[in-house]
Parts: sequence; structure tokens; C-alpha cells
Amino acid sequence: MQLTIDFIKQKIGDFTPEIALILGSGLGEFTKNLKGVQIPYCEIPNFKCSTVEGHKGSLFFAELFGKKLVIMQGRLHFYEGYEMQDITYPIKIFKKLGAKTLILTNAAGSLKKDLVPSSLMLIKDHINFTGKNPLIGKNDSALGERFPDMSDIYTSSLRELVKTCAVEENIGLEEGVYLMTTGPSYETPAEVKMFGAFGADAVGMSTVPEAIVSNYLGLQTIGISLITNYASGISKEKLSHKEVVEMGNIATEKFTKLVNSIINKL
Ligand code: HPA
Repeated sequence: MQLTIDFIKQKIGDFTPEIALILGSGLGEFTKNLKGVQIPYCEIPNFKCSTVEGHKGSLFFAELFGKKLVIMQGRLHFYEGYEMQDITYPIKIFKKLGAKTLILTNAAGSLKKDLVPSSLMLIKDHINFTGKNPLIGKNDSALGERFPDMSDIYTSSLRELVKTCAVEENIGLEEGVYLMTTGPSYETPAEVKMFGAFGADAVGMSTVPEAIVSNYLGLQTIGISLITNYASGISKEKLSHKEVVEMGNIATEKFTKLVNSIINKL
């Protein structure tokens, strides 16, 4: 870890990021008007390179509303073949660099008719349906506990703050439970029915490992899903990655507005 920290510090000097932000589909252009230091993942020692279509892989260090940010442009996914430990390694680095808060964003499919595509969902809790856990392995007690409590992963006080931001910005915001599958295949209609019965509202292929590690490290955590589509069987249409990316583009303005407002208020 020290090798990674030293490399990054050499690029950013004494810049201490307070907020870490992971950009999912729909926020790809978030950094467009920001000035800062950009470091491709491939250049960073011990970082893995991102491969997914439509995702840039780099860390971006910048200031917004006087807050110092580290932004992951493009995340690593389990379905790309990375280990859970690889996916969550950057979170440990952000904590070491000084981050106190992590904002996770993603694209997700809706498991409920009344959660319509293009809506934003504030994640209040999650279901880990991957059968994996990023904390498996030897525990470093300097980082966190062996058996971390998980009762308030998506920090309740920050959820209230996000709801306030949504009201002030006049942006509709649902609150719900996010379920993660490994992907990369989308769900079957039978799985979608089961996930709904489990109490999940949205399904996606990311975020849960990062949230588990964030909570473990004692970071405050916010999670927001952009609902890009109805999960299979909820609507008759077939799913495509293209549809997910297109809805991301349509909703990007309100998503950006909400995230800006949250950063401003944090
Ligand atoms: N399922 C899983 N992941 C997703 C979906 C979906 O329907 N939409 C966007 N990411």
C-alpha cells in the first residue's frame, strides 16, 4: 500500500482528499469542467486497469465548492475477472490519503414497477448476492475489525442530507435496497421475482464490495443508483448494455446536479 501512496503523493503533493467519489454510468462526464490532477489506473502501482466499454480508468484529484475530492472515473467490476480485494483496494488508499466520506454511484435495474427508469434511488441498505466478501482473508486490525457491524453502512445522517439536497434541487429521489449479483449476464425473470421477494428494489453488478470495505474502514458512505431500466421480466423488453448507457446519458444532468449539491453540503 505504501508504494501506491508514495506514487500518488508524488503527483498530488500535500492535497488531502476529504471526499471520495466513484462514478458509475450516468456520471461519466462529471469531471468535464473540473481542473485537477488525473492519473490513469494503469500507471498506479498495485492498481488494476479498468476495461469496461464506456468507462475511463483514472483517478482524478480536484477541488469543488472548496472541498477536496478524489474521483474514480470508471470502477473495477468483479465480472471483469478482478478479485473483490482488487476492486476495493482503492478505497483503502482513499482512507489512507485522508478521505472521510465515500460517495458511490451506479446504474441499476428496477425490480419494482413503481421505480421507473430514469429515477434516482438513494441506497438505504444492500443485499450481497455474490457469495463473495472483500474482507475474506487475513485481517489487518490497523484498518478495521474482523467482524464489522453492518447495521448502518449507508450512513443514516448522510441519507437525510441527500434527501434534503434532492428536495432543494427539486429532484425526485426514491429510497431503496440495492442487490448485487456478480453479472455479467443480466438476471432471469425468475431471479428478478426472487430478488423482489427478498426485499430488494434495484439490482446491479457493483457497489456492494466498495460499501462493505468503506464501512469496515469507518468511512461515512452514500450510495445512489440511477435506474436505467426495468429488470428482466418487469417489462417485456430485452435488456442491453446500450440501453443502460443511453439512459445514463439522458439522466446525467439531474444526477450531476444532485451529486454537486451533496458535495456542496457535506
Ligand atoms: N441488472 C443488473 N445490472 C444492471 C441492470 C440490470 O437490469 N441495469 C444496469 N445495471
